[in-house]
Amino acid sequence: MRTNKVVMVLGRRGSGKTTFVKNLIAQYHKLHPHQKILVVDTFDNPVWELKTIHPEDIKRWRRGMALTYSSEPEELFEILEKHLRNALVVFEDAVKYIGHRLPPPLKRLVIDSKQKNLDIIFVFHSFGHAPLDLWRLVDYIEIFKTADSPEIRKNYIVNFEEVQRVWEAVTKSPNPYEHGTVQVY
Ligand SMILES: Nc1ncnc2c1ncn2[C@@H]1O[C@H](COP(=O)(O)OP(=O)(O)O)[C@@H](O)[C@H]1O
Ligand SMILES: [Mg+2]
Repeated sequence: MRTNKVVMVLGRRGSGKTTFVKNLIAQYHKLHPHQKILVVDTFDNPVWELKTIHPEDIKRWRRGMALTYSSEPEELFEILEKHLRNALVVFEDAVKYIGHRLPPPLKRLVIDSKQKNLDIIFVFHSFGHAPLDLWRLVDYIEIFKTADSPEIRKNYIVNFEEVQRVWEAVTKSPNPYEHGTVQVY
């Protein structure tokens, strides 16, 4: 992953998404040691093995890796949009706080990601859970085994044929952690 990419990771529970993202974080940190790394989860999830920071602390955060969560996602998104620069941000299990449309501050974060030197990873459980306006904004889609098929988002997925091809190969594979990448742009 070069800097300033927007990536969507799709896969059902237990398909290997978090493990994949953790490996990506480790590689990213080696390649870009000065970039901050922020994981946004819905609770203080110990699986990340990261120190937890309060959303307010993001305003003064200078370096390192951290996990944050909030019971007020809209407030957190405003803080990210206003203050987060030079970072990789991961939205884990994003469906819990992102609906069928990206919340406006998150959409602006994605659109301004290159100017702000941000890389962004969104993690969802299925094709149906990804916000409809995100399909046109992602650079890469990482497809794990899913419960639904890309068919349900046929009219939104930019390069549908390739997504379908990769999803079929992943679905057929006997490896439960199989995954494949589609480059959108
Ligand atoms: N490539 C892999 N090879 C072997 N075990 C894996 C692999 N990816 C994930 N696992 C294991 O499978 C379980 C679920 O993985 P996880 O990454 O938490 O999935 P998800 O985030 O999609 O729910 C974990 O116990 C993890 O250690
Ligand atoms: Mg997970």
